[in-house]
Amino acid sequence: MKIAVVGTGYVGLVSGTCFAETGNQVTCIDIDKNKINKLQSGEITIYEPGLEKIFIRNLKEGRLHFTSSLADGIKDAALIFLALPTPTGENGSADLKYILGVAKDLGGLLQPGDYKVIVDKSTVPVGTAEKVKLAILASGKDKLADSFDVVSNPEFLREGAAVEDFMKPDRVVIGTSSEKARQVMQQLYEPFVRQGNPIIFMDEKSAELTKYAANSFLAVKISFMNEIAVLSEKLGADVDMVRRGIGTDFRIGKHFLYPGLGYGGSCFPKDVQALSVSSKEAEYDFKILNAVMQVNVLQKEFFSNKISQYYNDNLKGKKFAMWGLAFKPNTDDIREAPALEIIARLVESGASVTAFDPEAMPNVKKKRSFRSILHPISIVLYKMQMH
Ligand SMILES: NC(=O)c1ccc[n+]([C@@H]2O[C@H](COP(=O)([O-])OP(=O)(O)OC[C@H]3O[C@@H](n4cnc5c(N)ncnc54)[C@H](O)[C@@H]3O)[C@@H](O)[C@H]2O)c1
Repeated sequence: MKIAVVGTGYVGLVSGTCFAETGNQVTCIDIDKNKINKLQSGEITIYEPGLEKIFIRNLKEGRLHFTSSLADGIKDAALIFLALPTPTGENGSADLKYILGVAKDLGGLLQPGDYKVIVDKSTVPVGTAEKVKLAILASGKDKLADSFDVVSNPEFLREGAAVEDFMKPDRVVIGTSSEKARQVMQQLYEPFVRQGNPIIFMDEKSAELTKYAANSFLAVKISFMNEIAVLSEKLGADVDMVRRGIGTDFRIGKHFLYPGLGYGGSCFPKDVQALSVSSKEAEYDFKILNAVMQVNVLQKEFFSNKISQYYNDNLKGKKFAMWGLAFKPNTDDIREAPALEIIARLVESGASVTAFDPEAMPNVKKKRSFRSILHPISIVLYKMQMH
């Protein structure tokens, strides 16, 4: 199949490369020309275990292509994936400007009678598939209505294990009410589920909500366990033993039970927040989510306060070493990384920090050059010593 992937970040590059690995012709599109130039010349732009090898193989064997032109990229494609950012918008909801902007451009490019499946792979609020369809129709030519379907196909890959997750997903969720689009999607994903994991078909809205429900549920587990850790300390229990004691119960499961600095990364913080806002807009106060977010903030404060108290609330002149800057191991992604917030707090209190991460150092260093547009944390980072 011929596939276009619009947005060549963590999700777009992994999806595009893995689709090429199963024999498809894939063109990845990005507005960042520098990124496209690097990828065209065989330089990988993110760190993800196992990705570079299959990226190089598919590039060399002519199944993987890169362009910054949307028109060139979607020419002849049967499927167009949208793997675009959906950052937190002004009121905490997901900002759809990238998705709807590309949808509008697609409206001007699609041709009546040349059927294409447009696939939302980004994490988007319930109702976005309909908005994408309307945006395409509003800017498109007459008689475009039967020439495309918009499908929701949320992505569940974990950074750090993205290739493995994409090639062997626990499940593939596809939201569509079109039989034609369903068949195309089934054919595309069959090679990925040969070991028997399901492709679960549902309507568009349920697929969109499934992604938010999955991420929010995992965030609930993390915040719950962090509260158990605080309580363990107060009551004199060993949280690691409590973790083992409950994780062996198959109804609970052993994953996401390690207490820590709270969840971070490019997904959980924005997705929990966005679901809470969606819920408010639907006139429902999602009480658990609000508590989850509160605990996540407190957890970092709790840890910083512990350090400060240990030094009698005087960190001036103290020097700290920090191992690990990404939001979790095996990735170079530093978006919303709790480590950076802890560093900022230490430096604000007069301490200095020497930090190391095997993969994320270039991204942390890059943040300095964008000082003026970044969150205050970056300005603080600018002052810190890096070796
Ligand atoms: N990163 C993850 O682990 C993960 C997992 C599942 C779902 N998601 C979701 O997938 C979506 C993408 O996330 P990501 O982490 O890959 O983002 P990213 O920021 O790494 O990549 C997005 C890419 O889109 C490009 N882009 C922006 N506007 C564009 C345009 N008009 N045309 C072409 N390219 C454009 C950017 O230059 C960037 O390269 C988000 O909705 C995210 O929530 C992410």
